[in-house]
Amino acid sequence: MIKEYLYTNFSLNERTALVTGSARGIGLAISTALGRAGAQVIINDLNESACIESVDKLKAEGIRASYLAFDVSDHESVQQGRARLEGEGLYVDILVNNAGNQNRKPMIDMTPQEWQQIMNVHVNGAFNCSQTFLPGMVSKGFGRIVMMSSVSGHATMPLIAAYSTAKASTASLARSIAVEYGPKGINANAIAPGFVKTDFTIGLQQRPGFEDYLLNNVPAGRWALPEDIAPVVLFLVSPGGGFVNGQVLAIDGGLLARMG
Ligand SMILES: NC(=O)c1ccc[n+]([C@@H]2O[C@H](COP(=O)([O-])OP(=O)(O)OC[C@H]3O[C@@H](n4cnc5c(N)ncnc54)[C@H](O)[C@@H]3O)[C@@H](O)[C@H]2O)c1
Repeated sequence: MIKEYLYTNFSLNERTALVTGSARGIGLAISTALGRAGAQVIINDLNESACIESVDKLKAEGIRASYLAFDVSDHESVQQGRARLEGEGLYVDILVNNAGNQNRKPMIDMTPQEWQQIMNVHVNGAFNCSQTFLPGMVSKGFGRIVMMSSVSGHATMPLIAAYSTAKASTASLARSIAVEYGPKGINANAIAPGFVKTDFTIGLQQRPGFEDYLLNNVPAGRWALPEDIAPVVLFLVSPGGGFVNGQVLAIDGGLLARMG
């Protein structure tokens, strides 16, 4: 009975999922979770050999996995990627826009190019991938899109003005897709992780006093791990999450809920 309930609500057996920026970190954990739930998984990242390494890890545990290396900020490469996937008979019905970059510096020292590099990956990348794969989802009458926002799309700290602006934008893009394509069977949501222990946050991990900040401000009193984030994405793209649309879900150990 439990098995049947879980299967009906959380199995992704019939699904094909593309997770961008998934050769490592949170993206790899999400790919693993979706693959374990039965999805065919497509790993994407900038570096081909990193993609291959991750695909090998997934295959070693029996997950159906392949890869496609492209830069999400390059619209033409994304389009070519879809053509290649479809040539192999792979039609993406779950898209997780996870790829991301960072550049911590005072806003007044940021060049327009540096600002744009952040927008290009988070915002344009999410647009490029969503716009490329939405038509296939619409024609099937089924699609799930998850945007990787962040707690810093809600509240922020010094040195990350571009990143915070980009993360708020991806949440807004999820709402826009939900409203515009909800009637076509598409659900689009965003997740907003707190501080996750990955290569992305090595600077923070090494910053003196940051562990104390976490202990004092995150009610859970610790870093998140990629494995704290992945099951929430599984829920959002699974049949059981099918009526959740246009939401931004914080996965932050209570950080944003705290008043003092
Ligand atoms: N780590 C955190 O604390 C945290 C918190 C909230 C949100 N996030 C977001 O989660 C996502 C994943 O972060 P992570 O911590 O796993 O970081 P990570 O640096 O470990 O992984 C990001 C991956 O994205 C890839 N990537 C970067 N630019 C790309 C591009 N143009 N095209 C394709 N791939 C590209 C990188 O090569 C890397 O493998 C990011 O969007 C990040 O902003 C992270």
